[in-house]
Amino acid sequence: MSRHAETVRRVTAPEVRARKGGEPVVCLTAYTAPMAKILDPHCDLLLVGDSVGMVVHGLPNTVGVTMEMMILHGQAVMREAQHALVVVDMPFGSYEAGAEQAFANATRLLKETGAQAVKVEAGEYIGATIKFLVDRGVPVMGHVGLRPQAVNVDGKFRAKGRTREERARVLAEAKAADEAGAFAIVVEGVDETLAPEITAAVRAPTIGIGASAKCDGQILVTDDLLGLFEWTPKFVRRYADLKATIDKAAAAYAADVRARRFPAAAETYVLNASPGGKPQRRRVAGDGKRG
Ligand code: KIV
Repeated sequence: MSRHAETVRRVTAPEVRARKGGEPVVCLTAYTAPMAKILDPHCDLLLVGDSVGMVVHGLPNTVGVTMEMMILHGQAVMREAQHALVVVDMPFGSYEAGAEQAFANATRLLKETGAQAVKVEAGEYIGATIKFLVDRGVPVMGHVGLRPQAVNVDGKFRAKGRTREERARVLAEAKAADEAGAFAIVVEGVDETLAPEITAAVRAPTIGIGASAKCDGQILVTDDLLGLFEWTPKFVRRYADLKATIDKAAAAYAADVRARRFPAAAETYVLNASPGGKPQRRRVAGDGKRG
């Protein structure tokens, strides 16, 4: 029996937190309802990441992502995700000014999407904000190391942990999020030896991306692992080559249209007028599924 045929119970933030040092936490990004439906049975956590700005909307980075974008994609994912804990990213500019701004926007994300938690990119300064949210009922996931929303300060997307100072800063960011009550911490783009050090230093499970297999869980941008882009970062493992599959399908469709091979008779409606003047509809394969 599939997991969805049974009574499905959603994973909770405390359950993810309790996985520290245990079975690895499986996480992926999702931005749409159909993708959430496919991924949900396989994942403990689905992240409506602000990477949606780059992956779906073609933005150069995540800086331009808005609350409205996160709400729309969060709602779409929540329509189909039944099992996984759904976490929505707080976009750049929605939480950094202070705890009250963060609380107003985090509660808006939870109320309007139905998701169970939010994620913030956690510089050391954000500890007080995370505590404010957690104390008031908002589960928070931290995100340390390479923080994509800081791209304009860093100059480019750059892995962290080159110098002793940089290692200490990332470790301090993770400890601040942990002490503030984050239920999990994404560790992105760090030196391979730094991730286990962070994992050992915090009570919350660490979720690696471009980090180390020694983290308590892993996350990837789903579109990267599906092979939808020509270029992906070094840390991505491609489990499919959907770009080539889509390319081939689109080329075959274009050739069929140009040669008038599509649509075929079975793919058209034949609406014969009945003697009483009422049109009769010939049913064809797939008829009535959509549109
Ligand atoms: O926005 C995102 O998809 C993320 C993951 C890469 C962790 O933050």
